[in-house]
Amino acid sequence: MPDKTFYITTPIYYVNDKPHIGHAYTCIAADVLARYHRLKGDDVFFLTGSDENSQKNITAAQTAGYTDMEQYLAIQAAVWQQAWDGLNISNSDFIRTTEERHKKGVYKFFDLVNKKGDIYKGVYKGFYCNGCEAFVTQSDLMEGNLCPIHKKPVETIEEENYFFSASKYRDAVLAHIEKNPDFIQPTSRRKEVVNYIKDHFTDISISRHFKTAKCGIPLPIDPEQAIYVWFDALINYLTGIGYGSESDDFATFWPANIQLVGKDIIKFHCALWPAMLMAAGLPLPEKVFAHGFFTINGDKISKSLGNAIDPVELCLTYGVDTVRYFLLREIRFGEDGDFSFDRLKERYESDLAKGIGNFTSRVLTLAEKVPVKDLEQEESLDDVEVKIMIEEAWKTYASALDSCALDDEIKTVWECISWGDKYIEQNKPWELIKEDPTQFANTMVLLLEVLRHVSAMVYPFMPDTAEKLWRQLDIEAFERTHASEQLIEWLPGTVRNPSKGESLFPPLIS
Ligand code: MSP
Repeated sequence: MPDKTFYITTPIYYVNDKPHIGHAYTCIAADVLARYHRLKGDDVFFLTGSDENSQKNITAAQTAGYTDMEQYLAIQAAVWQQAWDGLNISNSDFIRTTEERHKKGVYKFFDLVNKKGDIYKGVYKGFYCNGCEAFVTQSDLMEGNLCPIHKKPVETIEEENYFFSASKYRDAVLAHIEKNPDFIQPTSRRKEVVNYIKDHFTDISISRHFKTAKCGIPLPIDPEQAIYVWFDALINYLTGIGYGSESDDFATFWPANIQLVGKDIIKFHCALWPAMLMAAGLPLPEKVFAHGFFTINGDKISKSLGNAIDPVELCLTYGVDTVRYFLLREIRFGEDGDFSFDRLKERYESDLAKGIGNFTSRVLTLAEKVPVKDLEQEESLDDVEVKIMIEEAWKTYASALDSCALDDEIKTVWECISWGDKYIEQNKPWELIKEDPTQFANTMVLLLEVLRHVSAMVYPFMPDTAEKLWRQLDIEAFERTHASEQLIEWLPGTVRNPSKGESLFPPLIS
């Protein structure tokens, strides 16, 4: 039985459209961390899902001509789950906020907070942005009444609502952030959150009258009101692992190890969410990591610009692993970056076709010349050097992943590949075949061992490529053997029966 658990979440997505590469980015990053922890043998739960109690979804359903909201949501939720399947996202579950299990958990949570005395009735007078699905203050607005994110006029609202006494937890949340430097990552985001809490964190309206909110979970203490979509949505992180239902998963996996979010929603996750958890007497997640935003050829991804790129279509053209690799390698995780097809093609050629593809093909072509199982290798100085190189690479790799430096993790693998390429150049194994068969054997055993480690290292971000490599190296995938630790141990000579298969990254047509 694994002795460590690892729980990772993505935000739940509004399903009013199909996913674009910005959404896919969060899921791919979470998938890399989930797969890495599985590789280490941890018991992993990886949750994603759909945020369905949102007015955006209603508007989209009406525009698409649906009269049956349930039908529309079911279709859309399936579109998103299928997109994640197409991107090889290995989520353990997909929570929908219109599911009964979610509603049950929201009620349980609300009841606790209410019993604590943290819910009261008041009058909300202010602004609401339908794009953000959030109440906004005057100081947030641009040019009088425009939401700074959606650049659209906000709604003015005055109604009797229920409030959550968030301000009661203001100092406790600030103290938690101060005491736990890892709680908000990257560190550059911490100041922004702290300033927000200090200057703007007040009690928050957590319901809207059904007259104005067209959907939502009815408030248990006043069914004429719907629970505010963010209060409802954040609780998915608990209900998705069984909170409020009969399941052991909640006890096993909460608190989450990492909650990945985009930078636009960090305040909800690092101010409101911790206050809610404190009110319900639940522990806080270990870390909230906010990644940056993708632009496309320099422009914001937006419906009106019509520039959204469908990640599933992109995979059909370039391959799933190319897309996963490119999105993670191209920009530093945590910072903003640009997506361009030219850069994608450049990276395909240089890093994938000429990098890992070429290295694999060189090693396996040489290995096929003399059956490796007939080779007798000796221990040599090079063995020790390469063993240290690989062990160091695993350490750098692990620490990059532990700090969510996903691009650094990838760079480490490519350093091993470059090492292998240089080793081939220096040792010229094609000459050794005749001149020094023992040295040829040593060289090949080392190169195959390096390739075996590369195959394990690429698994979290390029799972299909890892599978192809495992087939070519004739080693069982760890999922089938459950011997994952062997993948990261230095075991020269493990690969006995390699065969060159299909090219990993053939030249692009076009
Ligand atoms: N439903 C809320 C989240 C509730 S979580 C309790 C939401 N949904 S969303 O569909 O609008 O966004 C989901 C995620 O996609 C967010 O993390 C957001 O930051 C991310 N992205 C949306 N556009 C993006 C880019 N252009 N680039 C990178 N990530 C982007 O917010």
